[in-house]
Amino acid sequence: MSKFKVGIIGCGNISSIYFTNLKRFHMLEVVACADLNLERAKEQAALYGVPKACGADELLADPDIDIVLNLTIPAAHADIHLRALEAGKHSYGEKPLALNLEDGKRILSLAREKGLAVGCAPDTFLGGSLQTCRKLIDDRWIGEPIGATAFMMSEGPESWHPNPGFLYQKGAGPLFDMGPYYLTALVHLLGPIRRVSGSTRITYPERMITNDYHYGDKIQVQTPTHTAGLLDFHSGAVCTMITSFDVWGSKLPHIEIYGTHGTMIVPDPNDFGGPILVKRHDWPEFKEIPMVYGFTGNHRGLGLLDMAHGIASKQSHRANGELAYHVLEAMHGFEISSNEGRHYDVASTCAQPEPLPMDGYRFSTKTRVD
Ligand SMILES: NC(=O)c1ccc[n+]([C@@H]2O[C@H](COP(=O)([O-])OP(=O)(O)OC[C@H]3O[C@@H](n4cnc5c(N)ncnc54)[C@H](O)[C@@H]3O)[C@@H](O)[C@H]2O)c1
Repeated sequence: MSKFKVGIIGCGNISSIYFTNLKRFHMLEVVACADLNLERAKEQAALYGVPKACGADELLADPDIDIVLNLTIPAAHADIHLRALEAGKHSYGEKPLALNLEDGKRILSLAREKGLAVGCAPDTFLGGSLQTCRKLIDDRWIGEPIGATAFMMSEGPESWHPNPGFLYQKGAGPLFDMGPYYLTALVHLLGPIRRVSGSTRITYPERMITNDYHYGDKIQVQTPTHTAGLLDFHSGAVCTMITSFDVWGSKLPHIEIYGTHGTMIVPDPNDFGGPILVKRHDWPEFKEIPMVYGFTGNHRGLGLLDMAHGIASKQSHRANGELAYHVLEAMHGFEISSNEGRHYDVASTCAQPEPLPMDGYRFSTKTRVD
């Protein structure tokens, strides 16, 4: 199978795991990296043996590059995706797809027009735990799913993230930063979303950074930091979801799915692994279910590998633009519902991603997959 040459734009905090993982995937080769901060790009290039470090313009003009991996901050996601597609390159990026729905639509339509692929994180739903959960649902271990709960409760990232400012601007906050993991997992497990309603608030308009890099600096909060919402799926399942950066502690589960014949406790959708618990109606207690898929470690970039396989085999890929746009619309829907006091009908839809095949994983990697 042919090898795709990848150029990474955005060499910040999350880039290291991508540089590391992409070396393990036979089909992908990182040939250049770029950042607004050229020194940062040079450091990452030196650390991971990437032959070229440059600015984004130079990377986008490089005819050797087939795929752009967009690891910039959310405010730059749409611009980089659009410029990559204009330059004739496939584009895969970190979540969310874009800040607003207009930009999201523009990305999808430009990709269609140019016959190029667009992909978007999160790809944790391709990991061993969420694939096993999907198989349990498809094989009817809990019967027909009728409801779910999803909770992302934390005190916020300003204590550990080196550059936490962007996480309190539009396109982030707990809903747009962490919500994509939960909503993508839910669409993977239950199918597309029909409507949402929500209530949102900003609890602390100003936050203080408590990490070692910028201790004491203040952040002006521009996006809700506590959101409570409801989701109705086309399947008929109903879900309660809270995302928060305002909570000091919680024992609520990440995700639970309730079926007509049992309950499933789903591990953290921000991870690729984690224990899965099921209690069927005829079992006295929960039992841990063995994982039946690989990729249980931190395999960020798996969605990009799947996209490369899709391009090579002229098939669709799983962490695709339509799924990311559907999730983006649902997140905006919570805010619109809160501001306008009504249910928000989600206009977009997407295919429920195909499960990965069980019989021999089709991805080739250079090392073991667990
Ligand atoms: N940090 C994490 O743990 C984490 C985990 C999963 C996903 N993500 C996502 O990854 C993305 C990046 O997050 P991060 O934590 O690495 O942020 P970061 O601020 O550490 O890094 C972003 C980098 O992008 C560069 N950049 C910004 N705009 C650019 C542009 N127009 N052209 C070129 N370079 C540009 C910045 O200079 C910076 O080096 C975000 O969308 C975030 O939601 C982060």
